[in-house]
Parts: sequence; structure tokens; C-alpha cells
Amino acid sequence: MERLVTSNLRLGIIAGGQLGKMLIQEASKWNIITYILDSDEHCPARSIASHFIQGSHLDYEAVYAFGKMVDILTFEIESVNIDALRQLKAEGCRIVPDPEVLAMIQDKGQQKQFYQRNGIPTAPFILFDDAEALKQELEAGTVSLPFVQKLRRGGYDGRGVAVINDMTELHKLLPGPSVVEQKVDIEKEISVIVARNKKGEVKCYPVAEMVFDPAANLVDKLICPSNITAAQSEKAMSIAAEIIELLDMQGLLAVEFFTDGRGEVLVNEMAPRPHNSGHHTIESMITSQFEQHLRAILNLPLGSVKMKLPSVMINVLGAEGHEGPVMYEGLTESMALDGVKIHLYGKQITKPYRKMGHVTVLSATLECALKKAGQVKNLIKVTSWKKE
Ligand SMILES: Nc1ncnc2c1ncn2[C@@H]1O[C@H](COP(=O)(O)OP(=O)(O)O)[C@@H](O)[C@H]1O
Ligand SMILES: [Mg+2]
Repeated sequence: MERLVTSNLRLGIIAGGQLGKMLIQEASKWNIITYILDSDEHCPARSIASHFIQGSHLDYEAVYAFGKMVDILTFEIESVNIDALRQLKAEGCRIVPDPEVLAMIQDKGQQKQFYQRNGIPTAPFILFDDAEALKQELEAGTVSLPFVQKLRRGGYDGRGVAVINDMTELHKLLPGPSVVEQKVDIEKEISVIVARNKKGEVKCYPVAEMVFDPAANLVDKLICPSNITAAQSEKAMSIAAEIIELLDMQGLLAVEFFTDGRGEVLVNEMAPRPHNSGHHTIESMITSQFEQHLRAILNLPLGSVKMKLPSVMINVLGAEGHEGPVMYEGLTESMALDGVKIHLYGKQITKPYRKMGHVTVLSATLECALKKAGQVKNLIKVTSWKKE
């Protein structure tokens, strides 16, 4: 019989945003001691972490010293100082997922090469060192419009992505090394979260559908199960499982896909950590993505990924025109609706479109969940009581 003492296990989580907070909520059920590293002393996870260490996830010394404090190290953000992780690993620190998987994923260029090398369907692409080189190829006719330019490093929530439809939009080109890919005629954006443990057990959550808000460039709502064909769903799940096997990865991997009008399923990008597109799993699945991540990194059996109820998740975003100490409206009214689950991240300052929380609406039918999510969206407002 294996003995597992969780109450003296020190789990280090790099960054203490909302994903870190939700991971700690699960870790606390097993009495795991949690450490977080974040440069912001008011970060969401701080209020519930056992230990808060102030420091930047990009700083070698901060990451290295943090790794030395814990028994097992994971991350809830991709931009982590890789040299520090490599050094820690060389000195015997247990880091999951492996730093080499993270290093590859940090670079969208290497990600695309990985898909290409392994025959994973993805939009055709070319890599460029800078915008000048791209302009030259455009003139030479090697690159054709419309296309999407993505910075190889550091982008998130649409920052670092430029959609160029015609020559009048060339001023939007981003400086620095980038991936330029064919613009896909997107039908739907979907995501599959897959988990794998050291024994090689693999489990995929049902496909979720991300509906984007073009103004905020953020997910407006997340629908699960997605309304795609069974063939598309099976294909996306099998690609996600194939990728996690190819990476020989432990932990959680979120794979974002596009479906197009011709029924194709193309990989867009991936993240080796709990993901926004899995918020709904907290209430809608037997095992949440956060519990699954812990199971996967601690070599425990993976939990059931069976859906309890269909769900719609909406982000609670800071209102336009409001910046300052936060105030919420409409929470009580929303809670009066059956199946409405509110999560507030505890950020003290609101800004336009800042992710302040999310709401998952559960119902026996997706139709009903969608209707209620619409009601909640109209009820909840995030403003500021800033003093004039
Ligand atoms: N090749 C593409 N064709 C059309 N739209 C795209 C393409 N690549 C990205 N996009 C759009 O841009 C969004 C952000 O791109 P993504 O690579 O996912 O960056 P981020 O890291 O910011 O999430 C996608 O969710 C999608 O809406
Ligand atoms: Mg994305």
C-alpha cells in the first residue's frame, strides 16, 4: 500500500493569478501546503496560499530561490524564466510539466514546427525575424493576404496577434520575430483539455466552444459541450491526446483549435497548464481541471472526466470607463437564478475588460444555460467607486 502524506507536501506554483487561486482551492482539499511566487502583493491567490513569495516569474534569481523552497514545482503561466527552471531540474528539483515542454510552447514558432514535424493539422505558416523581412516577402509575393501575424514570444489574450486583411492594414504589423500564418476562415474556436500522468494514463475533457468578444479580444462565453459534429469532436480529442503523448508530458495541456467551413479541425495553439477554457469544469465535470492537474503532477490516478451537466461560462469583466477600486452590481440577483455559480478573483482594482471573475451557469439543457447566462451578463456590472 502506497502511503501519501499530503500535509507536509510543499507545492510551488509560479504566479498567483486566478488560475493559481483555483488550483490552491483544490490543493487545500488534500491539505497540501501551497507556495506562490508573484510580483504583485495583491495577486488573487495570495489570500488563500499557505505562503506568498514576492518576486517575478521572469527573474532568474526569484524563480531559482522559489524552486528551492518546495518539493514539487508547477506553473499557471507560460512566461517563466526557463534558465532558472533548467538549473533547478539539473539540481534535482521536481518540475511538472517538464521545463523543456514549456520552453517549446513559449515560442509560437517552435510550436508550429512541432505540429508540422508531427503531421498535426495546423494553418500553413512562415517564420520571420522582423516586420521588414515580412514586408519584403509580401512584395516578392511569397506571402499572400489575408494573414495573421503572431509574435513568437510573450503574447496573450490577443496581445501579440495582428490580423492583416489587406495592404492598408500593414501599419498593424508587430515588430520582432513572428509567425505568419494563413488566415483561417473560422467556423468555431474550440478547446480540448487533456491530462496525462507519469504512468501514461490519458484523459480528455469533452470539447468546449469559445465564443470571442471582438471588442475585448477575450472569450465572451464558453459553451460545453460544443455544438460540433461527433466526427470533429472525436478528431479534436484524438489530436489533443496524440500531442500530450508526443510531448511525453505530465500535467494538463489545453489545446485550442479552429474548425472551418470544410469540417477541418486545425490546431491553433496550446498551453501546458490549467486554462481559461476549463473554468466550467469546476462545476460541470466530476473532476475539475485543477484537481486533474494535481492528480497528473502528483502521479495519482486521473479522475473521471464525465460531464455532470451542460454549462455556459461567462467572464466577469471590468466595465469600460471604470478604473479604480472595484464594486460589483447584480451578484445577488444573479445568485437567485438556479444553477448560477459565481467566482470572484479578488482583484482590488478594476480596469476596462480586466478579468475580475467568471460565472458558470449549469442547466439540464444548453439552451436554458445560454438563456440564463445572457440574463447574468445583463445583471452583473463591474464598476469603480473611485473618489473624484
Ligand atoms: N490563423 C488564424 N486565422 C484566423 N484567426 C486567427 C488565426 N490565428 C489566431 N486567430 C485569432 O486570434 C486569436 C488569438 O490568437 P492566439 O494564437 O490564440 O493568441 P493568444 O495567445 O493571444 O490567445 C484567436 O483566438 C483567433 O480568434
Ligand atoms: Mg489563444
